[in-house]
Amino acid sequence: MRISVIGCGYLGAVHAACMAKLGHDVVGIDVDEFKVAELSAARAPFFEPGLEELLREVQSTGRLTFTTDMAAAAGNSVHFICVGTPQKKGEKAADLSYVDAASAALAPYLAAGDLVVGKSTVPVGTAKRLAGLIQEVQPDARLAWNPEFLREGHAVQDTLSPDRLVYGVPDGSEDHEAVEVLDEVYAAPLLGGTPRLVTDYATAELVKSAANSFLATKISFINAMAEVCEAAGADVTLLADAIGLDERIGRKFLNAGIGFGGGCLPKDIRSFMARAGELGADQALTFLREVDAINMRRRTKMVELAREICGGSLLGQRITVLGAAFKPNSDDVRDSPALSIAAQLQLQGAVVTVTDPESLANAARRFPELNYQPDMEESLRGADAVLMLTEWQQYRELDPHAAAGLVRSPRILDGRNVLDPGKWRAAGWTYRGMGRP
Ligand code: UDX
Repeated sequence: MRISVIGCGYLGAVHAACMAKLGHDVVGIDVDEFKVAELSAARAPFFEPGLEELLREVQSTGRLTFTTDMAAAAGNSVHFICVGTPQKKGEKAADLSYVDAASAALAPYLAAGDLVVGKSTVPVGTAKRLAGLIQEVQPDARLAWNPEFLREGHAVQDTLSPDRLVYGVPDGSEDHEAVEVLDEVYAAPLLGGTPRLVTDYATAELVKSAANSFLATKISFINAMAEVCEAAGADVTLLADAIGLDERIGRKFLNAGIGFGGGCLPKDIRSFMARAGELGADQALTFLREVDAINMRRRTKMVELAREICGGSLLGQRITVLGAAFKPNSDDVRDSPALSIAAQLQLQGAVVTVTDPESLANAARRFPELNYQPDMEESLRGADAVLMLTEWQQYRELDPHAAAGLVRSPRILDGRNVLDPGKWRAAGWTYRGMGRP
């Protein structure tokens, strides 16, 4: 099939490469000239494991190109919209200006029978509105909503073999012509057994909001338990292991620590609350306000722990922060708990050095006032306290004996509860986890 992918960020670049890998002819379109130049040279403009190899592999087949020119969409029959929907400044709601602009720019190039497929996370009701806008320009084009569930760090795998495919079509009917087209687009994963559900627009849009709200709730639930464990002297990691053995609960997404961040969960639960309010269903989602509040409290808690471990004052304390990305295997620092904690510590008088294997350039753009050190060992030298805030494998594997020889005071706070307290204490460290005695 001939496919356009509009928006080549964390979602679109991976989607474009994966669609080409599935055998389609793909053009990725983005307004950002730098991104287009990088992708055209088979270089990933951000860190995503496996993406660069995939770009090289598919570009050698000639099935994948990138451009800034929307006219390249003309002649293609399926057009994916993969642009961002960030949080509006000073509001909870999502900023739909990129989705609207992409749709408006694409519309003049649509031919009768073309299918526009929305993948961006949008407030419920957006698909119906966009279908109207598109059909004002090309009455015989159709629109489907096909939300994306990929996780950064696993995006290639999640796109090539997703755990489910959801097609939102106007009447929610299996017989809608868009279903056949999408089945052809996703023929390979469907053949591999990926379940697919056909729904109406509103349900498809809500599936994404509901899934992310559930994940955020699960993390905040365990972090709330961590608060109780802290008060009671119990261990939240053992508690999670024990409740996680109940199949109905499950152990995944029950890792207590400094909480969730990133470009999706925080802004998605907020825009979901805002949209529910507009629909008169705000009461249904007031619990998400608490989910958000519990999550933000974890960051404050980590700053308090750092102050405590430094003897009551952060002034002049040299603190090393391991990890700046919002999670490992990503260079994404959007709403990163690690960076926000680092910035708060610095504001309160500490001298903070941040290290991370991939995200330092992005971090420095966001918080230029922090010190960045790409070399982990160097970053540890002379530290009064070390904070493990993003659980990259190399930090999990850090040797406490070797590290003790680098720092000034062997004090470590494990913001992700991934280090072995016994091992660190045996090497002479003061160890504190979150929600652990
Ligand atoms: C999320 C959803 O998982 C994905 O399905 C959706 O498409 C986009 O949003 P992503 O933002 O890539 O994906 O990250 P995810 O793996 O969900 O992690 C989100 C945050 O939660 C990270 O900051 C992570 O460190 C944190 N987290 C995760 C925890 O604090 N505890 C856990 O147990 C799991």
